[in-house]
Amino acid sequence: MSKLQTTFPENFLWGGATAANQLEGAYNEGGKGLSIFDMVEFVPKEERVNGHAMDVTSKRELEALLARDTDGNFPKRRGIDFYHRYKEDIALFAEMGFKTFRLSISWPRIFPTGTELEPNEEGLAFYDKVFDELLKYGIEPLVTLSHYEMPLHLVQENNGWTDRKVVDYFVHYAETVFKRYKDKVKYWLTFNEINISMFSPYIGSGILIDEVENKEQAVFQALHHQFVASARAVKACHEIIPDAQIGCMLARLEVYPETCNPDDTIAALDIDQMNLFFTDVQVRGYYPSFMNRYFAENNIEIEMLPGDEEILLQHPVDFLSFSYYMTMVASGDPEKKKEKGNFFSGIQNPYLRASDWGWQIDPKGLRIALKKLYDRYQVPLFIVENGLGAYDTVEEDGSINDDYRIDYLREHIDQMREAITDGVELMGYTSWGCIDLISAGTSEMSKRYGFIYVDQDDYGNGTFARSKKKSFDWYKKVIATNGKDLD
Ligand code: BG6
Repeated sequence: MSKLQTTFPENFLWGGATAANQLEGAYNEGGKGLSIFDMVEFVPKEERVNGHAMDVTSKRELEALLARDTDGNFPKRRGIDFYHRYKEDIALFAEMGFKTFRLSISWPRIFPTGTELEPNEEGLAFYDKVFDELLKYGIEPLVTLSHYEMPLHLVQENNGWTDRKVVDYFVHYAETVFKRYKDKVKYWLTFNEINISMFSPYIGSGILIDEVENKEQAVFQALHHQFVASARAVKACHEIIPDAQIGCMLARLEVYPETCNPDDTIAALDIDQMNLFFTDVQVRGYYPSFMNRYFAENNIEIEMLPGDEEILLQHPVDFLSFSYYMTMVASGDPEKKKEKGNFFSGIQNPYLRASDWGWQIDPKGLRIALKKLYDRYQVPLFIVENGLGAYDTVEEDGSINDDYRIDYLREHIDQMREAITDGVELMGYTSWGCIDLISAGTSEMSKRYGFIYVDQDDYGNGTFARSKKKSFDWYKKVIATNGKDLD
């Protein structure tokens, strides 16, 4: 029997997380092709649908956006200019003592349309420089292959992942980067928040949803293709980089029944099972039987090719990573009022406070998530996103006193320690948006998560200069003490 572990393990991977589309900018430099998020415009708060603005739903809408091109405000095209400032940013991460840095490779930087046979050397060279810079400081890159950055061409030509051909394009991309970076990158993730297509088919699977007849059929078929692509990427990774580990990534939705009425429990369980469907396939290697009823009742028939089930079964992931921001409440009564998060709605929890964006803050929910996921799968877990999106104020002397962020992180890290004591195997923690970046859900710059402030507003005005917030030194101390000193 293994010993009781009451502190963070020795080799715990502390760090920060980002994504190319929210960070890099330089959307048309270095031979990069357009990606799906390059086409998402900033929409002021009052005009947003469901609290977010991410979807492009039809060919017509996409053509109109392409025609406007440089006319509009497309914040993800400029990011925070990491493309030109990565050295300065990585030096700051190193100063905080990061053990790991999560970033994604922009697929269209390597294959501009997604269909080329030969990669774009300039794109590959960019990530070589970034990885070298990280390794110079002893920071392990943790690389997501696909974080909402599908080449736009595949949307136009294939309606995204609905087309089986995209599996081969993706695997070719994955093999290319595994071969190129095999000596530099030992931690990989396949698809960011693989379950997001349920809420945003365009961002998760590159689907223009108005162009299909049966929307759910299209989404689940696309997801099947992504599962197969992910399993084939796992296989390729193990063959090309035998000492690497590769994981899946889930937006974990922890959900409580509103009352002890069994109807509320069934409602919560249904949401929970749907959330775990994704990790069941990627960790266990097969479709769970509870999905049969859902598929039958919603006229969904997954088309599988011979060999698909085998590849899923034979190549599960090595670890399960997830994002965690909030929890939800479920009721058996469909009329109950809904609260808005990015992609998810639910009923207000009277025991919790919420962020300025209405996300219900629940540190203990993180411990619950860790315990449940570990109980179910018994594989190492990795929290690759967590944090507080908040408005920050720069004082006259330039200081930024983000005590609210420190409180949020402290409480969550404390619950991680509790979960470790409960027996959970946790590999690491990368706080989301360790440097301020463009919001995925709203394209705002003013929704900030970072330890490092970036001087830019929602319209791209500002010097882009970096400065340290109060949380910078706090997180540095947390890492230096391996999570012992959270004060
Ligand atoms: C996750 C995404 O859903 O949440 C990130 O993986 C995203 O890309 C993060 O930035 C926070 O969401 P938002 O909308 O506040 O940026």
